[in-house]
Amino acid sequence: MPLHIIRQDITKLKCEAIVNAANNTLLGGGGVDGAIHKAAGGKLLEECKTLGGCDTGDAKITKGYNLLCKYVIHTVGPIWRGGQFNEKALLESCYRKSLTLAKLHGCESVAFPLISSGVYGYPKDRALSVAVDTISEFLFDNEMTVYIVVFDKEAYEISEELFDDVTEYIDDNYLDERFGWQTKTEHYNPSCFDTEGEGRYYKIDCQELAEMFGEVPNKLIDMLSKMDDNFAVTLLKLIDIKGITEVECYKKANVSKQTWYKIMNEKNYKPSKNTVIAFAIALELSLEETKHLLSTVGFTLSKSNKFDIIIEYFLLNKEYNIFTINETLFKFDQVCLGM
Ligand code: APR
Repeated sequence: MPLHIIRQDITKLKCEAIVNAANNTLLGGGGVDGAIHKAAGGKLLEECKTLGGCDTGDAKITKGYNLLCKYVIHTVGPIWRGGQFNEKALLESCYRKSLTLAKLHGCESVAFPLISSGVYGYPKDRALSVAVDTISEFLFDNEMTVYIVVFDKEAYEISEELFDDVTEYIDDNYLDERFGWQTKTEHYNPSCFDTEGEGRYYKIDCQELAEMFGEVPNKLIDMLSKMDDNFAVTLLKLIDIKGITEVECYKKANVSKQTWYKIMNEKNYKPSKNTVIAFAIALELSLEETKHLLSTVGFTLSKSNKFDIIIEYFLLNKEYNIFTINETLFKFDQVCLGM
């Protein structure tokens, strides 16, 4: 997968370059800066002294010395002052300049901490969104494996409302093998915002939902279910119907070109359930369409699997932002999609 979000000490990562959240002097400090200098040894500081500092938003590269990585890319993030002082653009520049340097030095893998989200006070959820968006934009046109290293779980925050909604959906639907089927049958309906305009979903009875879906036969699902195509053929047909390119599809699903090649060319290759669902999200499939795509490789969504329940929640609510989904999966200690 091109973009991974992991929890790790960045100094322990064996990739070709790690990025340091430095300050303008490049002469070391606390946080990740201190950890990298400590792990790299004194020669790193000696080389940094020759660089003449670094502007905010810019990046410079050195060797990795005692670290497991070949290079350290030092970048200086903005200090958060409320968001009205060009902080977002400067933070985006940190990622862009660092990725450009990594590419120039032939790096096939690079790891970022959440720049500016510590001492410099950039709100962690916003810092993560800037990181994901800027790196994803780069990966659309470049082949590289990029890690975002989330050092503490707080960095991977989701809104309280979303957390409450998902928790309630799990409670309503999770089949706990010890206690049997949950009784409540309510579902959230994406088109049913309450009229008071509070912007919250309200629940409708499952029967009403079934009638709603039943009355409007899903033409796509009818068509696909009449075919017994394999996963690759079904995927290509869906891509065609959705009017996107193959590259757009696997990039949006955060699936590597290598995996895409295997799916399309190796007759017996079987993608993981996680990969199939990532494609369903990329294609913005409905719950039924997703279930059909899964069935082409023998998978189903289970009521006794929290990961599946959370995926079902997002499909029903037509939320297809893979990073919102992953932040939520992460929050519920589930494996992330394509990460
Ligand atoms: N591995 C991965 N991430 C880490 C590590 C580590 N070993 N140590 C800290 N982090 C995380 C923090 O939790 C935070 O989310 O890195 C992120 C960036 O935090 P800081 O290191 O404080 O960097 P920043 O907010 O950009 O502030 C830079 O702090 O250390 C000084 O010299 C540095 O003056 C500069 C300022």
